[in-house]
Amino acid sequence: MQALPNLFLVGPMGTGKSTIGRTLAAELQRDFFDSDHVIEQRCGCNIPWIFDVEGEAGFRLREAQVIDEITRYQGIVLATGGGAVMHPTNRRLLRERGVVIYLSTTVEQQLKRTSRDRNRPLLQCADPEQRLRELLEMRDPLYRDTATLIVSTDRRSPRSVVAEIRRRTRRYAGSVSRSCCSDLSGYSL
Ligand code: S3P
Repeated sequence: MQALPNLFLVGPMGTGKSTIGRTLAAELQRDFFDSDHVIEQRCGCNIPWIFDVEGEAGFRLREAQVIDEITRYQGIVLATGGGAVMHPTNRRLLRERGVVIYLSTTVEQQLKRTSRDRNRPLLQCADPEQRLRELLEMRDPLYRDTATLIVSTDRRSPRSVVAEIRRRTRRYAGSVSRSCCSDLSGYSL
């Protein structure tokens, strides 16, 4: 019997990856992982501390290790950090080991969802809006290049986004099974 395909969520800060990932995993009765939480658990400290002590480069190294490890699991839902797609190896592993869903949103929504948060070192700056715009400009092509599906979360409830992901992954699985060798159509998506 084939293993269930993994579902990997990518996208910028404040797009709802963790909330949507948790809801999606609960509905599909799958295990859920959030790469940022795994990094924090392993290290015993939070992300701002890692950025302070090891710099962004140290954080990216930890992130790459965690992504390589977790993407080897089967039948899981994984929410990745917003910068995970910057590393070419992460992009390749995500693409090779699961169905990648890009959760997209507007910078306005990102700002709303992150404005009171102190746990994102890249936004502790004079102009977070400008920072979010720059990051999106740089990373949007990478999210698109990595993703199988793009789903907007803009002004939508997690339940509605999850319903769309389930519908579209089912359709995607059906088209893959019709057009090529692997039969994904029997999976619980
Ligand atoms: C980052 C996004 C964060 C976290 C870290 C760096 C980024 O994750 O990994 O602060 O580079 O965009 P979220 O996207 O879950 O906020």
